[in-house]
Amino acid sequence: MSVAASVENTSQRGGPLSKRLLRAFTDEPADRPPFWFLRQAGRYLPEYQRLRRGTPNFLSFCYTPELCIEAALQPLRRYGMDASILFSDILVIPDALGRSVRFVEGQGPVLEPLRDAGEIPTCDIARLDDRLAPVYAAVSGLAKAIPGDTALIGFAGAPWTLALYMVEGQGGTAGERARSWAWREPASFARLMSVLSDAVAHCLCRQIDHGAEAVQLFDSWAGLLPETQFRELVIAPTATIVRRLKAHAPNVPIIGFPRAAGVLYEAYVRETGIDAVGLDAGVPADWAASALKPGCTLQGNLDNILAVAGGAALESETLRILGTLGPDRFIFNLGHGVLPDTPPEHIGRIAEVVRNWSRP
Ligand code: CP3
Repeated sequence: MSVAASVENTSQRGGPLSKRLLRAFTDEPADRPPFWFLRQAGRYLPEYQRLRRGTPNFLSFCYTPELCIEAALQPLRRYGMDASILFSDILVIPDALGRSVRFVEGQGPVLEPLRDAGEIPTCDIARLDDRLAPVYAAVSGLAKAIPGDTALIGFAGAPWTLALYMVEGQGGTAGERARSWAWREPASFARLMSVLSDAVAHCLCRQIDHGAEAVQLFDSWAGLLPETQFRELVIAPTATIVRRLKAHAPNVPIIGFPRAAGVLYEAYVRETGIDAVGLDAGVPADWAASALKPGCTLQGNLDNILAVAGGAALESETLRILGTLGPDRFIFNLGHGVLPDTPPEHIGRIAEVVRNWSRP
């Protein structure tokens, strides 16, 4: 199967600041904000479904660079987003650490739950690199294949969100087992978090070495934690990872996404050192613009259900968000991933509204 054909490259490959997405991390005024969509690749696209049918095991798909490159290019061909995100999954890190991960149709990811401190894996960097080599190969292949004005975003799950999947064995719970372990045995939970922080920092450095121009840390389950644990399990490890990435690649912007963090977004932005923050759809845009924006680029926060619903509200909400959060130091996106039942033409409509918008 020949799948790694690139998107037509119509612009000259320029320096980094020729890319609209990278300019959003600077104080340079923008005519319109850059845009991309969380989960812009995936099941809402018929061409992805066709590609995916050939590889029933989703993790095998994630470990096949040509398939990942093709899946990441598909939405760019349709919509010309300002950024391409590596096609992979946050659970490749637990898998590479030896906690085998399966994706069950209609149920999502399933892991053998980590029961106690004795089962905490070690972070063996050589083994990690060996297992994640196909992910890094997908990053370098994608860096070569995307248009010259498109920025490449690498990503990883944040330690707390990965720990939650590893301890619970699945997502979609209230995280009781992981949270009670963290209260009951803080020392061993800290060891798990430290293994994950090392693995995540290392994997992101490698993605940067292979061509990622910005990286995003997904803390999808940050909103489950009360303040004390949020500080220990979300803010502190994120700050550690940011320090390590900045020591490795000072100019690569880092986007943090502590989903559903509510008012704790403010502490997250001030205390982690991230360059940009992803806003879920529950964050009031005018609050974010005044409380978070000075010094931090914002990304988000259109309700992903609106991308399913379409219609007049899709347009008016897109315009409201553009007017409140943009255009400077702002990246238009959804508040959470594109859902599988999203009509592709609704994504096209959003892209058109953002592209035609200009500074009032
Ligand atoms: O364009 C992109 O953003 C694609 C790359 C990407 C995927 N997963 C592909 C994927 C990214 C950035 C992710 C991140 C991810 N994965 C997160 C963080 C973002 C969030 O949604 O909060 C999380 C929590 C996961 C874990 C995960 N992977 C879940 C919960 C699921 C099941 C979701 C479902 O609806 O079934 C996955 C599977 C997954 N990851 C798919 C894709 C395209 C669907 C797999 C398939 O094709 O069958």
